[in-house]
Amino acid sequence: MFAGPGKDTIPAGRIAEPGSGRLTTRIREVGGTHHVPGDKSITHRALLLTALAPGRSTIHGALHADDPRSTARVVRQLGAEVSSLTAGRPVVVAGHARFSRPAASLNCGNSGTTARLLLGLLAAQRFEATLTGDRSLRRRPMRRVTEPLVAMGARISASRGDGLPVTIRGGRLHDLDWRMPVPSAQIKSALLLAAAAGRVSVTIRQPAESRDHTERMLRHFGFEIATEGDTLRLLPTGRFEPREIDVPGDISSATFLIGAAALASRGQIAVTGVGVNPTRTGFLGVLARMNVPVRVVGVVESSGEPRGTLIAGASELRAVTVAAAEVPSLIDEIPMLACLAARAAGTSRFAGLAELQVKESDRLRLLADNLRRIGVEAAVEDEDLIIEGTDRPLSGRVVTQGDHRIAMAFTVLGTSRAARIRVDDPRCAAVSFPGFAETLGALYRKRRR
Ligand code: S3P
Repeated sequence: MFAGPGKDTIPAGRIAEPGSGRLTTRIREVGGTHHVPGDKSITHRALLLTALAPGRSTIHGALHADDPRSTARVVRQLGAEVSSLTAGRPVVVAGHARFSRPAASLNCGNSGTTARLLLGLLAAQRFEATLTGDRSLRRRPMRRVTEPLVAMGARISASRGDGLPVTIRGGRLHDLDWRMPVPSAQIKSALLLAAAAGRVSVTIRQPAESRDHTERMLRHFGFEIATEGDTLRLLPTGRFEPREIDVPGDISSATFLIGAAALASRGQIAVTGVGVNPTRTGFLGVLARMNVPVRVVGVVESSGEPRGTLIAGASELRAVTVAAAEVPSLIDEIPMLACLAARAAGTSRFAGLAELQVKESDRLRLLADNLRRIGVEAAVEDEDLIIEGTDRPLSGRVVTQGDHRIAMAFTVLGTSRAARIRVDDPRCAAVSFPGFAETLGALYRKRRR
């Protein structure tokens, strides 16, 4: 039930810093124009593809965070020269037509995208390489990628069931027609990259559409990809050549700023230069149903990806039902949407969240457990998450298990009125959003006395 004191009955007090764990009781006003760091998915793809393009490529706006640094590190081990990933500086990649055999195992850190997409590229390289990762990544499923790569001709062995470490020996590949068991951009991308690097064709039948950054970037490199409904077919027509690539701001990072604006007492923010690829904007429709209209203005296209400005403001949140079919288009936004549902009037239901269980943490369980820990009624029914919105004070300590999106979503929820939320590991936000706490803090207007 949406119960407890109304907003106006909460006593006036101090404005706490976001994430400080102190109670926020005073009116919070947001304002200004803000930016988010580069898109994580596009940065990974830009680094991987330019590493195989003989010559010098430049990536503008790349994300300078832990996850893409893992990709940069492993492609360096494979022979590419990659300049450091530093805020405000373009990344220069000197690539080679073939990877060289790495001297040590390839540590993909926390990044599932690095591991799965790299397996695709390595399937076409004639040497043996072993991939591993941190504790979270080692428990994530890899068979969904290795099985079709084996069907294409790669030799792959795993010492620990479905997870990393995995040893791959690539070689001559053959054409593949594959029906994907789950809608995953990472599986699709691994197969597209294997086919592009191995110069074979691949037909991929997806249960639903997922983000299409790989298709867009491969087309940017001259590959032909035909689509018919949810079926894709790549023909090995293109070649990896040096390119200039512009990376837009990450819409999944912008979600946290929009969430904070929605939870504020008043005001409006603009977030500029954000990627608005339609396969990533599913959460905008959900926000509109929650009574958080987000305007997208000034859309332009660069390197095959659209970018624009998002404008959103303080709102009276309403509960929402999210259908399973919507999930692939907002998979990384569920933590923020669930935290907004905690402050929405009514009961929200997010259906079909099985894939959330194999992210950086079991996000389905962790979301429900943490919501309950801070005083929100939340339950998991099969693969659905049910949340009772409340405007009662929320307080408690959130366990992130090192999951960046859990840390950021609950930090933002902690900015809502009458919340005292402590996040056990706020620094893990650096996996995808360097400077998150500062950027979030900059939304709040200092009120003149
Ligand atoms: C990603 C795809 C999604 C997403 C992940 C990044 C990508 O994973 O959750 O953060 O860059 O392709 P799945 O494709 O496994 O759903």
